[in-house]
Amino acid sequence: MSEKEFQGKTALVTGGSRGIGRATCLALAREGARVAVNYVSNEKAAGKVVAEIKQLGGEAMVVGADVSDSGSVTNMVATVEHGLGPVDLLVTSAGIAKAAHHSEMTFESWRQMMSINVDGTYLPVMAVKDGMLDRGYGRIVCIASIAGLRPRGRMITYSTSKAAVIAFARSCSEAFGPAIRVNSVAPGLIETEMGAQMGPEGMQRMADEAFLKRIGQPEEIAETVLFLLSERSSFTTGQTLVADGGRVTLP
Ligand SMILES: NC(=O)c1ccc[n+]([C@@H]2O[C@H](COP(=O)([O-])OP(=O)(O)OC[C@H]3O[C@@H](n4cnc5c(N)ncnc54)[C@H](OP(=O)(O)O)[C@@H]3O)[C@@H](O)[C@H]2O)c1
Repeated sequence: MSEKEFQGKTALVTGGSRGIGRATCLALAREGARVAVNYVSNEKAAGKVVAEIKQLGGEAMVVGADVSDSGSVTNMVATVEHGLGPVDLLVTSAGIAKAAHHSEMTFESWRQMMSINVDGTYLPVMAVKDGMLDRGYGRIVCIASIAGLRPRGRMITYSTSKAAVIAFARSCSEAFGPAIRVNSVAPGLIETEMGAQMGPEGMQRMADEAFLKRIGQPEEIAETVLFLLSERSSFTTGQTLVADGGRVTLP
């Protein structure tokens, strides 16, 4: 039997309890990684992911932490390293999205989304990069969005936060090379609880816009993430891989 891609590696997935993060946890476990499944409030969902991984014969643990809180992230990484070993693979999938007309935007809602989407990417990356550099190996994928590449008049805060994630990953790729590769993934609309916030009409409109005439599945994003974590993308760093069925190419 051939060795699995991530056998012997430890992965930490923020926002691993649901949606894209959940699918990524399961895909990583299938490829042999030990997986730390992060959540902020939905411990039950995170526990279900761990149970699924164990059913597959894998090793996993739940780790609660608010990614926007520095102390919480420091504890999360220490807990994972104690439980599963040093973090080799980091996926930052935790995030929130909310649409609002510009007249309804508040500084508080701006600060909240920036703290979860941007600080919540910065803090886990900074918490694992020194260990990765010391060990001479690390792979990081940050989940961005095509909203960070296109104008989104009703999602000004969200699109700004995701553009920041893209720029952060790109700059980290230079700073942390050659030991660590850092890339981002920019999904289009994906069928998750976050995606469902668009409502049935919004989802249909986005499916119609896409060249593939459908929205995406979390497992399709997980595959894209695994590609960037794996040696199949060994010469790729600082890039944003779009997986959106074709919508980003629209004017
Ligand atoms: N779905 C889409 O259409 C889409 C498109 C483009 C990009 N994305 C991006 O993909 C990522 C995942 O989205 P999704 O659709 O999978 O979302 P989702 O189904 O709503 O899941 C969100 C995840 O983030 C976690 N989370 C939220 N705030 C957190 C915090 N402060 N600390 C730690 N974890 C936190 C949640 O944990 P709990 O379970 O504990 O609440 C949950 O695991 C996000 O970054 C999102 O912006 C999604």
